[in-house]
Amino acid sequence: MTTTISMRRLTTVGLLLAGLTVFSSERPAPEKGLKDYYKDYLLVGVAVSPAGLKGSEGELIKQHFNSITPENSMKMGPIHPEENRYSWKDSDEIVQFAQDNKLRVRGHNLLWHEQTPKWLFKDANGKQVSKEVLLKRLKDHIDTVVKRYKGKIYAWDVVNEAISDNPQEFLRNSEWYQICGEDFIAKAFEYAHAADPKAVLFYNDYNTERPEKRERIYKLLKKLKDANVPIDAVGLQGHWSLEEPTEQELRKAIEQYSSLGLKVQITELDVSIYPWEKDRRAKRPDESDAYTPELEQKQIEQYKMFFRVFRENKNVLTGITFWNISDKYTWLDTYPVPGRKNYPLLFDQNQKPKKAYWEVVKF
Ligand code: GLA
Repeated sequence: MTTTISMRRLTTVGLLLAGLTVFSSERPAPEKGLKDYYKDYLLVGVAVSPAGLKGSEGELIKQHFNSITPENSMKMGPIHPEENRYSWKDSDEIVQFAQDNKLRVRGHNLLWHEQTPKWLFKDANGKQVSKEVLLKRLKDHIDTVVKRYKGKIYAWDVVNEAISDNPQEFLRNSEWYQICGEDFIAKAFEYAHAADPKAVLFYNDYNTERPEKRERIYKLLKKLKDANVPIDAVGLQGHWSLEEPTEQELRKAIEQYSSLGLKVQITELDVSIYPWEKDRRAKRPDESDAYTPELEQKQIEQYKMFFRVFRENKNVLTGITFWNISDKYTWLDTYPVPGRKNYPLLFDQNQKPKKAYWEVVKF
């Protein structure tokens, strides 16, 4: 009797074990994500909105990325719409998602000339405010936002795009500049450092590899370093294309900025299938916006080269962040030409890895 029972038990246990073995051997190993291939090199991030944290996109983020940047939620306009009112819902949700899934967060951004709230540069009578008032507002803003997420946001884009697009000018003639002169830049870094001394503080800009603009950015960064302004790093946005930057331009930019003792990250990476165009322009000469095999191949070559350069600079290049998750949605679908589809990322419109993905993880 006893024997029968124990035999039965044994048989049951045996069957269970056999079942488990079969089950586990059939179960696919947890798929590696981009972040896993690059774990010995750099952080791999992506720009997100609260809507993108759910469903299949949320799963894609968890599988492939170990860092996120709020695409819009932390910009001054959205997060601080009125002088005495902050709107935390979206940014809180993003930071909570990061906490729940052990992701790093790059805060973006504390000072920019775009997406500013209406009240910022004006007094109650609609007159432009003084430098003192504007700097006080900046300090209050930075204090409040940075302290709220202290310990949860490891890096901040403190100043975004302060260099002019006009090679004849140094700084952009923004309202920040018109009211404060050059001082707003150093002040923003000082306020951010005081609010969270551990946060890694970035200057962030685009076209950072174009030689002429590179020199002006370098000049600004050097000035800040020489004046002991608490700046730690520079963000190369990386809104690149099939045409640029060249390997040499990219290497030179990383080398020149890091020679100042600054770390470097690529903060808004995408590789447009169109040439760079800040000004609106029509579609390609053939009026097509098709993602042809030739364009795809050129994009693969660009991505391969970029990632090779990233790997070879791992001592100074601490992270890369893609600007959007997949080709299903990219800001380049509407900018600078509305209604012109673009395909700049490593995941396709069905959120599957593209050929370029498999090439950049092959090394
Ligand atoms: C700049 C900003 C980003 C984003 C992009 C376009 O690069 O830094 O926050 O607005 O433009 O989406």
